[in-house]
Amino acid sequence: MCGIVGYVGFRSAPELLLDGLTRLEYRGYDSAGIAVQRDSEIGIRKKVGRVEELRKLVAANPVRGSIGIGHTRWATHGATTDVNSHPHVGGNGEVVLVHNGVIENYAKLKEQLQGLGYVFRTATDSEVVAHLIAHHLEEQIKLGEDPESVSTYMKAVEVSLKKLKGTYGLAILFRDLPNLILVARAGSPLVIGVGKGEHFIASDASPLAGYTDEVVYLADHEMAVITADHVDLHRRDEGRVKMSVQTINQVSTDLDLGKFDHYMLKEIYEQPESIENCLRGRIDDDSATSKFGGLNIDPQELRLVDRIVLTACGTSWHAGLVGEYLIEEFARIPVEVEYASELRYRNPPLTERTMVFAITQSGETADTLAAMRECKRKGHKSLAICNVVGSTIAREADGGIYLHAGPEIGVASTKAFTSQVTALSLLALYLGRMRHMSYHAGKRMISQLRDMPDTIRRTLGCHDSVREISAKYAGYDNFLYLGRLYNFPVALEGALKLKEISYIHAEGYPAAEMKHGPIALVDEETPSVFVIPRGAIYPKIMSNLEEIKARRGKVIAIACEGDHRIADLADDVIYVPEVEDFLQPLVTSIPLQLLAYHIALERGCNVDRPRNLAKSVTVE
Ligand code: AGP
Ligand code: GLU
Repeated sequence: MCGIVGYVGFRSAPELLLDGLTRLEYRGYDSAGIAVQRDSEIGIRKKVGRVEELRKLVAANPVRGSIGIGHTRWATHGATTDVNSHPHVGGNGEVVLVHNGVIENYAKLKEQLQGLGYVFRTATDSEVVAHLIAHHLEEQIKLGEDPESVSTYMKAVEVSLKKLKGTYGLAILFRDLPNLILVARAGSPLVIGVGKGEHFIASDASPLAGYTDEVVYLADHEMAVITADHVDLHRRDEGRVKMSVQTINQVSTDLDLGKFDHYMLKEIYEQPESIENCLRGRIDDDSATSKFGGLNIDPQELRLVDRIVLTACGTSWHAGLVGEYLIEEFARIPVEVEYASELRYRNPPLTERTMVFAITQSGETADTLAAMRECKRKGHKSLAICNVVGSTIAREADGGIYLHAGPEIGVASTKAFTSQVTALSLLALYLGRMRHMSYHAGKRMISQLRDMPDTIRRTLGCHDSVREISAKYAGYDNFLYLGRLYNFPVALEGALKLKEISYIHAEGYPAAEMKHGPIALVDEETPSVFVIPRGAIYPKIMSNLEEIKARRGKVIAIACEGDHRIADLADDVIYVPEVEDFLQPLVTSIPLQLLAYHIALERGCNVDRPRNLAKSVTVE
């Protein structure tokens, strides 16, 4: 995965590239680099660490020019070192490129190129592409092609790309063709921003905000030669194609932290508004149902759906699990929740009436995209529940539901999760009202959903007690997160939050499954976080809690306001407002987000940019 930027025009490229990389840092932050060209001089600066480190390097050792490319890396091949950072150089410096993706056959190609005398300086798969293009360029020239013609370079790239297996988004500079950038895509996103006398390149549209609203989304197997005034678009085996320029409505990403210390905390606090935004305009009071502008599916067709597959990764997959409970309960349609990384290679017997929903914050997760494409290939209607407008998944889906949660910058997903659960609740209502759900039941669900923004505001009142409890527990190295029914996915999500930002081992489990094995882990050193609000099976999960206490396990309970009984049993209690069972995930996930946040702070971890992770996982 990673972020790519590029610029060709009249402005000074380095600042523009650095700003663009900052906006794309969510895609990776192992290292960053830029290459800036002036005539046949290409200056490369690259460095391990955040874009800020690169900025310092460039300030100390400037590069000048108004054409350049940049990269922020999430390493897949080769350690995170300065040398392995992008851009990479091919041949004797005639090719300089940045790459997003994975070259699966890099080892074989590397061996061949080494046999031809190419010297590799890095351990990355990407350097292979640079040398391969340099090699084919030399071959083309040997065959008599004009060394000064763009078409010679395009041919060299085309031949090289055909040899690659895997995924790539590439931006390439050529030492001897100083006025252009060549970009190519297969599996990794690239957008061209069209300006007046200038063009921009980026992995997504966010770095273009404030510069241009006109964009061209590159499709797989397309490549483009971009100069300040012109874009020449080509499709593999078709030759030159007309480009379609779209106008996007984008406000400059709000990178302002306001009064908060971290994006994660800011985003936790944005949840009353993000849930409200997800509900806005989607309630049909007269018919006691919900409505969606972009499902693009006929209600008749929807009535015939007899199975739903929800596919996603990570937190979005947890939201999918809540969705399964919601849709099965309210719409009585069988639902399966599939890890996208599994679904893409599995061959489950989907029926003609199966509908597939990809759930994704970024809309760029490679596995989710591949799973959705696989289902589409087999003829299934594929929809998306997605936050980022204009992302690859949003564009390729047959229709879907936007979350309208606003940009989520913290790597640990918070507000996207609760918005996904809100969208899935609306979907369950919609599908339910088409089937067995009564008008009155619909009305009741609507009124409870409407109350959620306020309920979440009240829930955030637990912050102080979570802060205190976090200080007490930050020293433990293993945690269990336990819940049942709607709170089982919440337990999984709570454990994931703790793992990813505090690097503490945590396991989410259905509370009643503990006795079938994991209870052996319980001792005084392994606290359990019990999600135990009042509800249908409250007494049952209370017994599960007693089982932990009987084995001297410490318990932090997430319980309903006014539950005094729990205070006698649990070591610590975090109180949240009482809501109907189906809405509990929206409420109970909030203290777990805060718990992970404060434990991570106590341990001195970088909550917004945890190690080894990236916000958007655009590699397999
Ligand atoms: C969440 O905290 C994670 N960082 C991660 O699991 C994330 O939810 C997953 O990578 C899916 O991303 P998406 O929603 O953008 O597809
Ligand atoms: N595979 C390349 C590397 O490890 C690119 C990874 C990325 O997309 O950031 O450097």
